Amino acid sequence: MSNIKIAPSLLAADFGNLQRDVEMVNNSVADWHHIDVMDGVFVPNISYGMPVVKAIAAHATKPLDVHLMIIDPDRYIQTFAKLGAEILTVHYEACTHLHRTLQAIKAAGMKAGVALNPHTNINLLEDVINDIDVVLIMSVNPGFGGQSFIENTYTKIKALKELIVKKGASTLIEIDGGVSSSNAKALKDAGADVLVAGSFVFKSSNPTETIKELKNCAN
Ligand code: DX5
Ligand code: ZN
Repeated sequence: MSNIKIAPSLLAADFGNLQRDVEMVNNSVADWHHIDVMDGVFVPNISYGMPVVKAIAAHATKPLDVHLMIIDPDRYIQTFAKLGAEILTVHYEACTHLHRTLQAIKAAGMKAGVALNPHTNINLLEDVINDIDVVLIMSVNPGFGGQSFIENTYTKIKALKELIVKKGASTLIEIDGGVSSSNAKALKDAGADVLVAGSFVFKSSNPTETIKELKNCAN
């Protein structure tokens, strides 16, 4: 079985020392930089937009995993491609024409991700799973870091894994929200391929070691 990927969420970084925190991720065993863009409409919070993503991209050496928590994300697909996103994830709940959106993301040269809110059933992806590179299962309600992990996530991971196997898809399963060393192994065992962690990494006394700890306890 392949090694789990760790994607530290820069939402929990120190924005006054953003370059330092991005370089910390560069120099760690992390796999992706997770970048949360929120519009204050789809979610009740505003995080940061293009100028900050551009600043992150200027220093990042690992793939940029951009998680859009915005309505009508099609408007910005080209912009995020130009900014250097490798994976562009949109929310199922924010897309009226999800199939079209996925094709547009791929046509722009990126991998296509779909995020599901905690209430959104895995089965809704049945007809598009072969078009999705990454499914991001929200294990908290999107909008804020530092929330408690929702236990029903394990059931969703198993259902998604079954769907992926049934359809012969090569989709990765990414878990976002409330991830720590206390649930990393159980998430990997349930079928997760990528773990996003914000507060657990950046609020720790040694983020580089915490990323290593997450990876080691999951593998
Ligand atoms: C929440 C974001 C997450 C957030 C996770 O809406 O999508 O990526 O940064 O933060 P933690 O790991 O603190 O739950
Ligand atoms: Zn996220």
